[in-house]
Amino acid sequence: MSREPQLAPEIQSFYSETVDESVRLTRSADGALELVRTQEILRPRLPAAPAEVLDVGGGPGIHARWLSEAGYRVHVVDPVPRHVEQAATTGATAELGDARKLSAASDSYDVVLLLGPLYHLLERADRDQALAEAVRVAKPGGLVVAAAIGRYASLFEHVATTLLDRDRVRDAVADILTTGVHEPGRKGFTAAYFHTPGGLVEEVASAGLSNVSVHSVEGPAWAVLKGAEEHAQDSVQGSAMFRAALNAARLADSYPDLLASSSHLLAAGTAPA
Ligand SMILES: C[S@@+](CC[C@H](N)C(=O)[O-])C[C@H]1O[C@@H](n2cnc3c(N)ncnc32)[C@H](O)[C@@H]1O
Repeated sequence: MSREPQLAPEIQSFYSETVDESVRLTRSADGALELVRTQEILRPRLPAAPAEVLDVGGGPGIHARWLSEAGYRVHVVDPVPRHVEQAATTGATAELGDARKLSAASDSYDVVLLLGPLYHLLERADRDQALAEAVRVAKPGGLVVAAAIGRYASLFEHVATTLLDRDRVRDAVADILTTGVHEPGRKGFTAAYFHTPGGLVEEVASAGLSNVSVHSVEGPAWAVLKGAEEHAQDSVQGSAMFRAALNAARLADSYPDLLASSSHLLAAGTAPA
């Protein structure tokens, strides 16, 4: 008998008590850059509205909101009760659930988004199961999009923020570079796995997706923005620097070598027919 997948308690408490995920993509410049770029990578790949979108790990429904407003019928699945309550106010429907065992029927969604689960599943077998479930519930030929955090994101982030001058942070960053695993409590995030671009391609291709493309979400200049915001103690959203970082991300998207500079990567592919 297969056991119900359990969300690690440290991930549950991180999203329930430590951070408010509902403001992550609007309160900071690098968050705003992630939102704009995610929208511009997704929009041209989505089927015409109305279409059925399953947003797995959809959190408080930031993407569910703009997708619903654009006419898509969106259902959010997330293991954090606070997120499910927030997502249910966005125009989407929402339920508690886990990417590794979806309640949705097979072949039922035109689009399946996995913008979060892959980087919170530390074991390859769990990520494979989440991708297999996304492929199962996608209609034949449907779009599946999965997000990853880049392996080098911690290095770039801490150069810009803590200046890497504390041994504890430097050691945590060094361990992520080596293993890809962020252990909870070592710095300001929870349990996570950070992909190399090649590792992400390999995982989504193994799940049976075809026509796979991998995109640089924030591109090479997001940490410059983050550093400017951190040290100037001021928002740089909407500034010339923000527009430069956005243009850099757009330019970088055509150059696979630059994928490694991005904080997030998006892999898009087609479910088997
Ligand atoms: C950083 S948030 C991203 C939220 C939103 N998708 C976005 O892109 O802004 C990561 C999300 O993944 C969810 N998550 C973590 N583990 C998961 C799992 N095993 N199954 C489904 N969702 C999971 C978390 O609850 C959280 O809402």
